[in-house]
Amino acid sequence: MTDTTSNKMWGGRFAAGPDAIMEAINASISFDQRMAAQDIAGSRAHAAMLAAQNIITDSDADAIGKGLLTVLSEIEGGTFQFSAALEDIHMNVEARLKEVIGEPAGRLHTGRSRNDQVATDFKLWVRDQFDAAETGLLALIQALLGQAEAGADWVMPGFTHLQTAQPVTWGHHMMAYVEMFGRDLSRMRDARARMNECPLGAAALAGTSFPINRDMTAHALGFDRPSANSLDAVSDRDFALDFLGAASICAMHLSRFAEELVIWSSAQFRFVSLSDRFSTGSSIMPQKKNPDAAELIRAKIGRIMGANVALMMVMKGLPLAYSKDMQEDKEQVFDAADNLMLALAAMEGMVKDMSANRDSLAAAAGSGFSTATDLADWLVRVLGLPFRDAHHITGSLVALAEKQGCDLPDLTLEQMKTAHDGITNDVFDVLGVENSVNSRMSYGGTAPEQVRAQVTRWKGLIG
Ligand code: ARG
Repeated sequence: MTDTTSNKMWGGRFAAGPDAIMEAINASISFDQRMAAQDIAGSRAHAAMLAAQNIITDSDADAIGKGLLTVLSEIEGGTFQFSAALEDIHMNVEARLKEVIGEPAGRLHTGRSRNDQVATDFKLWVRDQFDAAETGLLALIQALLGQAEAGADWVMPGFTHLQTAQPVTWGHHMMAYVEMFGRDLSRMRDARARMNECPLGAAALAGTSFPINRDMTAHALGFDRPSANSLDAVSDRDFALDFLGAASICAMHLSRFAEELVIWSSAQFRFVSLSDRFSTGSSIMPQKKNPDAAELIRAKIGRIMGANVALMMVMKGLPLAYSKDMQEDKEQVFDAADNLMLALAAMEGMVKDMSANRDSLAAAAGSGFSTATDLADWLVRVLGLPFRDAHHITGSLVALAEKQGCDLPDLTLEQMKTAHDGITNDVFDVLGVENSVNSRMSYGGTAPEQVRAQVTRWKGLIG
């Protein structure tokens, strides 16, 4: 009855093999072979559980367990022949297992389906990415803490609208990114904890009549518990969307920081020098040192957010439970994860190597009337003026300085007095940028003392 060209795994129902185009659209082995180690770990846990429950014999489970290790070493050694006719990693592994150990291989798929198998494999793979992201983020945070500690009291301009606003400290600016990447870290950890339920044993969609022990497989694979609804277990991909969501936000933070590094390393700013190790030259313009790594990190959000949108579109509107659409989950997530890890590593390297140009930062900090708010605050504090009046008076002094072509501290006391005759020489104390940043002692403010306190707090948090 069975045609020899029909599929080995379901040939019983089919008389002929698939059309070549059907095989091309159907096969996922070209990419899901990345989950080989996870697939084999899942199968080994499943076989051991089947034996413990007396569903298969110990000797069959033993042969399966050992045979799977042989298959794994063939895959890791690069000698495994992947076959598109066998569609995916699950069937490639099982077919090879049959060649290696013979008949017992056919008992491995008892009480499970490729639907719970793929969900388990993919969860294991994505779980590793949460861990890799955590490692990458921690390393980046360490690098930022190093910069913040070294430059806790280096003054630089703080911007709003990319216009000089108020002086801040280099350490404070670095610590702003520590907060962002710290939240990314917490998002990764939250999502990892949420996703750590094992789908294995949900079988095709309804569970199984075999007396399986789902706690045992869940535990063997490092999950906290088995997932509680078999329909959900085989059709949930929101753990991957959680990863892509957290990855997208992290990539957005990386992109913002990368943009700042691009601006700061320009000849117009000269706030930082990027190391040669993370820059490239131009083939035509000898003077160029380009911040390519920063630019590429800035761009990674495109594909990572793209993956997030793509998987969301794949999943929307799918009826329960499994649909083959869900095979389209993997490539996007693989690509996003690879690029997130690369971007985190590149940013860490750049931050560790870069040197802030203290003199340029200080010179820029003092220009652009950056201490105008300090002047207004002085008028309130010392002369008791309402803030709105103080704002107005300060504005007129800024206009005067602009007309004179100088900065606020360059105005004479007489010129100051034209705006308000209560102004005294003491005002010049607050017009200096060092005093300005030192005065911003409110919790979370830019004063070096506050910055150092935050560095200490973060060191404690990340150990
Ligand atoms: N390669 C498939 C995937 O990635 C495995 C699950 C196939 N299940 C099925 N019922 N056809 O989704």
